[in-house]
Amino acid sequence: MSEAATLAADEAFGEYLASHENKGLLRFLTCGSVDDGKSTLIGRLLFDTKLLFEDQLAALQNDSRKHGTTGGEFDLALLVDGLEAERQQGITIDVAYRFFATDKRKFIVADTPGHEQYTRNMATGASNSELAVILVDARQGILVQTRRHSFIASLLGIRHVVLAVNKIDLVGYSEERFHEIYDEYQQFARNLGFETLVGIPMSARDGDNVIAGSTNTPWYMGPSLLDHLESIEVDSDLAQKPFRMPVQWVNRPSSDFRGFAGTIAGGAVRPGDEIAVAKSGRTSKVARIVTMDGDLGDAVAGEAVTLVLADEIDISRGDVLTALDARPQVIDQFAAHVIWMGEEPLLPGRPYILKCGANSVRATVTNLVHKIDVNSFSELATRQLDLNEIALCNLSLAEPIAFDPYDENRDTGSFILIDRFTNDTVAAGMIRHGLRRATNVHWQAMDIDKQARAEPKHQKPCILWFTGLSGAGKSTIANLVEKKLHSLGQHTYTLDGDNVRHGLNRDLGFTDADRVENIRRVAETAKLFVEAGLIVLVSFISPFRSERRMARDLVEEGEFIEVFVDTPLEVCVERDPKGLYKRAMAGEVENFTGIDSPYEVPHNPEITVDTSGRPAEEIADEIVRHLSERNYLK
Ligand code: ADX
Repeated sequence: MSEAATLAADEAFGEYLASHENKGLLRFLTCGSVDDGKSTLIGRLLFDTKLLFEDQLAALQNDSRKHGTTGGEFDLALLVDGLEAERQQGITIDVAYRFFATDKRKFIVADTPGHEQYTRNMATGASNSELAVILVDARQGILVQTRRHSFIASLLGIRHVVLAVNKIDLVGYSEERFHEIYDEYQQFARNLGFETLVGIPMSARDGDNVIAGSTNTPWYMGPSLLDHLESIEVDSDLAQKPFRMPVQWVNRPSSDFRGFAGTIAGGAVRPGDEIAVAKSGRTSKVARIVTMDGDLGDAVAGEAVTLVLADEIDISRGDVLTALDARPQVIDQFAAHVIWMGEEPLLPGRPYILKCGANSVRATVTNLVHKIDVNSFSELATRQLDLNEIALCNLSLAEPIAFDPYDENRDTGSFILIDRFTNDTVAAGMIRHGLRRATNVHWQAMDIDKQARAEPKHQKPCILWFTGLSGAGKSTIANLVEKKLHSLGQHTYTLDGDNVRHGLNRDLGFTDADRVENIRRVAETAKLFVEAGLIVLVSFISPFRSERRMARDLVEEGEFIEVFVDTPLEVCVERDPKGLYKRAMAGEVENFTGIDSPYEVPHNPEITVDTSGRPAEEIADEIVRHLSERNYLK
């Protein structure tokens, strides 16, 4: 599509949505594997309902000549495969929203990619759709992809499904083949909670059973796809649900106006309604509902508005405004289904950023309850989650958020996880229920605190975190530093990798998942010693930035001193104090840091020491000086 055509389409799309006619709207998505004919099907729907724009058509004619697979005729797939890159690769790689209308209904269709690695886009497209058209190629039948997409659709709350058995012309319009596929799918879908499931034999290319019935399939008595889409009832009851509005931003153009802007995620609101702020519990009344086009008498789910309240109460971005009598849960632990989209695996214990609405909090997966085999639905034990895998997990957040179970509200019940270092979205999650595990465990207030405990020791408690390759000299230096501190009368403790792995962490090995857990436990332990008022020396390879960062975040500002023992790999290999490098290089030890397992160099350590050619004594003195200059030793 030319840029001008895209612009025209965008503009028309906006107008189309803005014109809130009373004609019902159905949002659906199409999914299938590469070459199942999704794009052709959508093209057919757009083309045959005559909603193509003139300039889109012109662009299409050109493109068909250039890239088409139908030899000069219109290639309908090109109409929807918007991106140049996709056309060249011959696959669809992003979610594209299309719209069309008939006399009975308006439609928005999310065209989602079928390529294995693009599960993420499918999840995006499904999250606001009411119905899924799942395409299969009649020659191929149900594939793993078909099952995966169906399962994701079900997880994302889609309750209406059409199984489009496409390319039926290529199997001679065989009734038997159709039923074979439809039956197999019905069997499979039994556990997916779909309210309606309709199988339609179809040729998207030739138009059989797309808009109207086909004489090629006289044995098929059901509706055409369009008939079905026009008539299916998918009552969206979002407006009947309890009022929810996540605050996107606080609009304060002048001192006499303060409005809270956001999109209503559930229910309806009127001036005079009492509302509460979910987290703080503070209440007020809605004074006005402000929009660009003037004040409203009411607003419902889906509308973007600015609310002005009767009272000055503390509300900020990320807060959720709620009905008084049906509030969301506010909790810091919950169980959720997670679709993993990261190239790197999900590791329990590793911190991620969880975004739910406008809220961002630190979160870790505390437990991978099970992953789910999308073919058999069996639940499998696992210690990590790889790209495209789906699991039920328990998550723990750095602070509570307000949410609803996904089944009750898709907006306030879903989240994404973001990698803290790359900023990539690595997961989509659907909250199933809160975990009240901790309700009977409260913080016990102690009269003697960290400062009080540290006082008689004349020191400021902290963690000296030594990181570096095996054989870098971490333990040697830490040992010397501790001796020097001890002789100065300081009160210290050392946690050393080799030693801790004989006791507390003796159940852990050297996989990435185990290393994450190793560091998590050590960081928590170090924190306890800081609470005890000690200077704690921690000496672990701790190869990952994420976990060193997690350890840093556990204690207060200034209590974490990262010491990068920067000894080049060649030097460590040369020293090889335990003979482990030799064995790792001979393939006798697996996952050895620096050999077949990564080490992520610290970005901004407080101290970097280069051990080559410098006596360890001198380095230890430097570290002690660092502490004394910064008043850790009084
Ligand atoms: S960490 O990566 O999880 O922080 P940790 O510091 O506890 O590692 O343990 C590292 C020590 O375990 C090394 O100094 C070495 O003696 C020993 N070790 C045994 N196998 C491995 C391995 N595959 N990789 C790294 N160290 C290993």
